[in-house]
Amino acid sequence: MIDAAELDQVQADSAREIAACSELAELESLRISLLGKKGRLTVLMKGLKDVEPDKRKEVGAQLNAAKVGVEGKLAEKLQELQSEALNKRLASEAIDVTLPVRSPILNTGPGSLHPLTRVQEDLERIFETLGFSVVDGPELEQEYYNFDALNIPDSHPARDMQDTIWTKEGTLLRTQTSAIQVRALERLKPPLRIVAPGRCFRYERMDATHEHTFYQMEGMMVDRCVTVGNLIYFMKTLLREIFGSEQKIRLRPGYFPFVEPGFELDIWFQGRWLELLPCGLVHPKVLEYGGIDPKEWQGFAFGLGLSRLVMSRYQIDDIRHLQGCDLRFLQQFS
Ligand code: DAH
Repeated sequence: MIDAAELDQVQADSAREIAACSELAELESLRISLLGKKGRLTVLMKGLKDVEPDKRKEVGAQLNAAKVGVEGKLAEKLQELQSEALNKRLASEAIDVTLPVRSPILNTGPGSLHPLTRVQEDLERIFETLGFSVVDGPELEQEYYNFDALNIPDSHPARDMQDTIWTKEGTLLRTQTSAIQVRALERLKPPLRIVAPGRCFRYERMDATHEHTFYQMEGMMVDRCVTVGNLIYFMKTLLREIFGSEQKIRLRPGYFPFVEPGFELDIWFQGRWLELLPCGLVHPKVLEYGGIDPKEWQGFAFGLGLSRLVMSRYQIDDIRHLQGCDLRFLQQFS
């Protein structure tokens, strides 16, 4: 049997409880306690089947009205609480554009120079005091400057020494800053002294000592009567400036098609020989490619492994750190 008093009671209770509700979660449990499977109103409605048939219609209508009433109040309250929650969130997340700016990028404080940039700038300064100018060349390079003009023709095995990244159009990502040599010769008249720092690329399997992207600094001096003696003098001066004291060096013969003779210059570093500076006297053919008469002018050239130098200077054990963009690594140099 459905007790009319009880229905009144449920309606009165629910109205009061809904009105007093202040949280969305609380409203939801209230809804369940009224209209859920075992809710008070649901239980009452289930009792309808026991009502005598001639009263069923009337009682049914009452129950339904009660249910619609409760549902309406719940919906109203739900909307009220939702808009309250939204307003609260808007207030707490509002951006005050008049506030002073916080430190940039993840609040890590001001940025600092990358170790590669530091070493590069140090070297540029050293070379400038020795009368060299800093020049630049493209990273996306023509085959001619990267290979042919450096006396490395198509069939030359030296091309295989440098796994090249080619573009569909037939240009390449320069594999060495030596590509700048003939560009500089074309543009500048001898006597000339240049250094050219830059990014180089090779199709490498990466590990602690190999990166597909790395940095070199090319150097070249062209003048009258340039000899191996001049080359050694400049290299020793450079190394003294970099390391702050006279360095023990050794020269080994090295093969590079664009120098003759060619050398590997090693330095004695932390108890072992470190291969640091390939160099040599500019090959007459390279001078000719640059439009310069090799009978009148000679030169030396070198290719400093900038990434490698940075690694030994800061005792970095993995070349991949240099371009890994890991702030924990970079912040050590701030
Ligand atoms: N470009 C050469 C390389 O990447 C390095 C090099 C060797 C540069 C001898 C030079 C040089 O200027 O004279 O392996």
